[in-house]
Amino acid sequence: MLEKIEAYLKEIESFSTSSKEELEQFRIKFIGSKGLLKDLFDDFKAVPKEQKKEAGQKLNALKNSATEKFQNLLNNLSNQTESKTENFDYSRPGTPINLGSQHPVSIVIKEMCDIFSRIGFTVKEGPEIEDDWHNFTALNFPEEHPARDMQDTFFINSESQHALRTHTSSVQIRVMENEKPPLRIIAPGRVFRNEAISARSHCIFHQVEGFYIDKDVSFADLKQTLQYFAKEFFGKAKIRLRPSYFPFTEPSAEMDVYWGLETETDYKITKGTGWLEVLGCGMIDPNVLENCGIDSKIYSGYAFGIGVERIAMQRFNIPDIRMIFENDIRFLNQFKSVI
Ligand code: PHE
Repeated sequence: MLEKIEAYLKEIESFSTSSKEELEQFRIKFIGSKGLLKDLFDDFKAVPKEQKKEAGQKLNALKNSATEKFQNLLNNLSNQTESKTENFDYSRPGTPINLGSQHPVSIVIKEMCDIFSRIGFTVKEGPEIEDDWHNFTALNFPEEHPARDMQDTFFINSESQHALRTHTSSVQIRVMENEKPPLRIIAPGRVFRNEAISARSHCIFHQVEGFYIDKDVSFADLKQTLQYFAKEFFGKAKIRLRPSYFPFTEPSAEMDVYWGLETETDYKITKGTGWLEVLGCGMIDPNVLENCGIDSKIYSGYAFGIGVERIAMQRFNIPDIRMIFENDIRFLNQFKSVI
């Protein structure tokens, strides 16, 4: 019996086929219910006691080897048939890929950066956690300015030395400290204010900061640049600058774009005035330039800060600012077609 097992083992090991029929023959011959293995197991009963152990082990090895061989060959055969491409219909539509979409805030920021890049501005970013110097002091905020109060700012340590930046104007300081004029920078980013959350305001939002520092930069340059932006971004050329106040600009202004009052939505988004409030701006205060080591007798500059969310809401008809931060997939999916 042992010789028989040896012989079958050799036969099994050397067997190979690429035809289904031959493989089926192999299965019937060895593993099938009337196959050789069955016979051997029947014979096993008659094996003398002393030989049972060895014969049993060999028999089991033979059985394993036969089933393994069969399985391997079967797998090979089915792989081959799968990869057969003769009958493949190349005109079939492909499997759709589930594409993501850009966030409405990203879409607006990208477009703003593109518009300013076209007239020579370079994109820069700064940290979201800022120190008092970059967020307030260097920007000419007096010691007692209410914006330093816990009401408005998220301080991150008890000594109040570090806070989540309340505006992107801190990037002005970072760039001015490290680079020499002429500077023409656009700085998008996330900002934080300790404010009550409602449909129209949030404690997190985004700004796009822009500034230009060179010899002889004037308010006329600022106005012209903003006019260009309004035309490119909103497609509207009529703007107005209202006097305003910021500690780091003098004079300061707020810019409105004339939106019109043609539809009911126009009334809603402009609060019935026809004018859409878009950004804060002004001529950089000489104190700020000096704080950063730039000679204010030689250089002057302008700066502006655009609020992103309100513009995104207006552009995409988003009724509630909170939707922008919830990341509900049903909301985000709606921006697939925009880019
Ligand atoms: N930083 C100001 C704000 O947060 C906006 C601003 C930027 C105003 C630059 C003037 C110049 O509202």
